Amino acid sequence: MHLAMKKVSMILLMSLTSLLATAQIRISTSGIEMILNAVPGEELRIMYFGNRLSDTDFLNISAAGVPDHNAYPPYGFNCPSEAALAVTHSDGNMSTVLTVMSVDQTEESNAQVTRIRLKDTIYPFYVTVCYRAYKDVDMIETWTEIENLEKKHVTLTRFDSGYLPVRVGNVWVSHLYGTWANEGRLLQEPLERGMNVIKNKDGVRNSHTDHAEVMFSLDGKPQENAGRVIGAAFCYSGNYELRIDTRDTDYHQFFAGINPDNSAYILESKEVFKTPELALTYSDEGLSGASRNFHRWGRKYKLAHGDKMRKILLNSWEGVYFNINEPGMDQMMADISYMGGELFVMDDGWFGGKYPRLTDNCALGDWKVDKNKLPDGISWLVDRADSHGISFGIWIEPEMTNTVSELYEKHPDWVIKAPGRDALTGRGGTQLVLDMANPEVQDYVFSIVDDLMTENPEIDYIKWDANMSIINHGSQYLPSDRQSHMYIEYHRGFASVCDRIREKYPDLTIQACASGGGRANWGILPWFDEFWISDNTDALQRIHMQWGTSYFFPAIAMASHISAVPNHTVFRTTSLKYRIDVAMSGRLGMEIQPRNMTEDERELCRRAISEYKEIRPVVQFGDIYRLVSPYDGHNMASMMYVSEEKSEAVFYWWKLETFYDDHLPRVKMAGLDPERHYRIRELNRIDNKPLPYEGLSFSGRFLMENGLEIPLKHMVDYHKQDDWSSRILYLVAD
Ligand code: DGJ
Repeated sequence: MHLAMKKVSMILLMSLTSLLATAQIRISTSGIEMILNAVPGEELRIMYFGNRLSDTDFLNISAAGVPDHNAYPPYGFNCPSEAALAVTHSDGNMSTVLTVMSVDQTEESNAQVTRIRLKDTIYPFYVTVCYRAYKDVDMIETWTEIENLEKKHVTLTRFDSGYLPVRVGNVWVSHLYGTWANEGRLLQEPLERGMNVIKNKDGVRNSHTDHAEVMFSLDGKPQENAGRVIGAAFCYSGNYELRIDTRDTDYHQFFAGINPDNSAYILESKEVFKTPELALTYSDEGLSGASRNFHRWGRKYKLAHGDKMRKILLNSWEGVYFNINEPGMDQMMADISYMGGELFVMDDGWFGGKYPRLTDNCALGDWKVDKNKLPDGISWLVDRADSHGISFGIWIEPEMTNTVSELYEKHPDWVIKAPGRDALTGRGGTQLVLDMANPEVQDYVFSIVDDLMTENPEIDYIKWDANMSIINHGSQYLPSDRQSHMYIEYHRGFASVCDRIREKYPDLTIQACASGGGRANWGILPWFDEFWISDNTDALQRIHMQWGTSYFFPAIAMASHISAVPNHTVFRTTSLKYRIDVAMSGRLGMEIQPRNMTEDERELCRRAISEYKEIRPVVQFGDIYRLVSPYDGHNMASMMYVSEEKSEAVFYWWKLETFYDDHLPRVKMAGLDPERHYRIRELNRIDNKPLPYEGLSFSGRFLMENGLEIPLKHMVDYHKQDDWSSRILYLVAD
């Protein structure tokens, strides 16, 4: 080819590439990015999600073979495909076609926000697809704003928050499932053909059973510290649906959104429907790498007070259940204070007027002190806590009532129930859910917290429980033609109450409890400081539950308590050392009657609390590295936290079963600085002799390539021996 012609065609090619590139949008954090193609008048296309690209790769990405899928596929114009959005327009037309109108990218202090406005090709119906890419954490949040400018209402029958194509090729999905007392169980399976649906329809809580978060391991069987992983967390407190559709294409199609089942939404003319956020991350450092991204993002941008160290507490529930009285509470406060704790929480059973709360079948809604149990009221308890040098917290269950309560007698119209039918009741045979769609109910729920805090401003902590699902479909507040809005309006009402509480009481610590771990989700945590992982406090089962939960949630948010044996749920007897070593991998607390402990046991707890205070910053703010999974059949599990500067680390090792002649793997550590040396100190030591490496230093490189040998059992006096064994090693860089 003639040189001049070659030059011209080069220029043409280059300008064609840059023309294409101008429609290509980069949505980037410092480490990861998503590439979209937003050509005005055409569908919005998604082309890439992964590590940040070089400028050249960005320019040439479309030639490399990319998904090039509609980034927010609506229903009706490509009917056989799964859709993110389904709309019945005001004239009955069930098809929607969305094309790009404009792209807007703005800078927030810590993030870049991209808003791509799409319009239906024939209706004044708009969808803005939004992305927030954080600058200092590798997380991209996506959501949509669906706007109806048609003259009449339209009906939304599906309204996902986001969609992501994942290239087929030995992809495995990791997600959490379970039930009451067995929450956060890890399930890992290869993605095969067909539809994989992970969903919730509880109405109130959404993480007892399946969780609204998943991870995709892209390089075969999931590994903790190697391989490419995409992580997704749907940030919502209500019913959700995650779908992974694998059909005859090269891509798994991942959709996440509010569960549309029985929730068709009538969108009025001029109304905007904002979907919850879907948080997406990517890591090439395995599942633990994706977890670190979730934890950093969560602590920094989602979790209430994610930068504030949590107090060590005693909660009264498993210690006394409903048997609350002044001497008992005072004694528990004295005991936790003696052991070095910083907070006492009085659980269920302190309230009720006409119907005192002696058991779980009455009084929810009657939030006044039971004077027979506590004649001097909350203020006396707060004062006693103060004189013991600790803070005071209290349990409430504000979204609920019992048919046996003064509240229900006064406001039977405030509960959720189907018109014309008697309500099905829950816990205690009398529990009902209040209708959070009703603004009067919202005011009342706000007033429960507001009254407690106004009368006792020193209250430091609230345990907010929720022990019932919506089992009756029916809002007595919403009109008959808006009954399908019940679930969505419930959570809007809940959100609005939480906003009001946080505006007035920004410093209060609030725990999300929901019959245990029913409210572990990133939708709720902006208002809540932590969640109760499970009503099952058995250390062995907790290792499994906390392992799974740590995939998406940081230790600072995971309430983990030392409880009595035999365990009240599974009746297993584990050693106190073992129970302590498990609880110390989360936000440490106690759930026990200290009066029933021996002096030796109290001493062990006292020492553990003091040592936890030393490692607390590493546990609560450090980076997680899971090492050996309890699900992998090695009869042991191990994990560690490493401080951001890699100057300190805490290593956990738990044996799961004892078999004579068992040979457990030697665990290689991770996340350390290979060039630095770390001095080893065992915490909660019960052995008669220190470990051979106690007080010695090893390089991070040695610890990560070889690890340290952990003895299979504890060297204690014969009569103290049992089959439980665990170790916590504290590593400090020289
Ligand atoms: C369920 C919670 O999960 C428990 O911790 C306890 O607070 C009870 N409710 C009280 O009723």
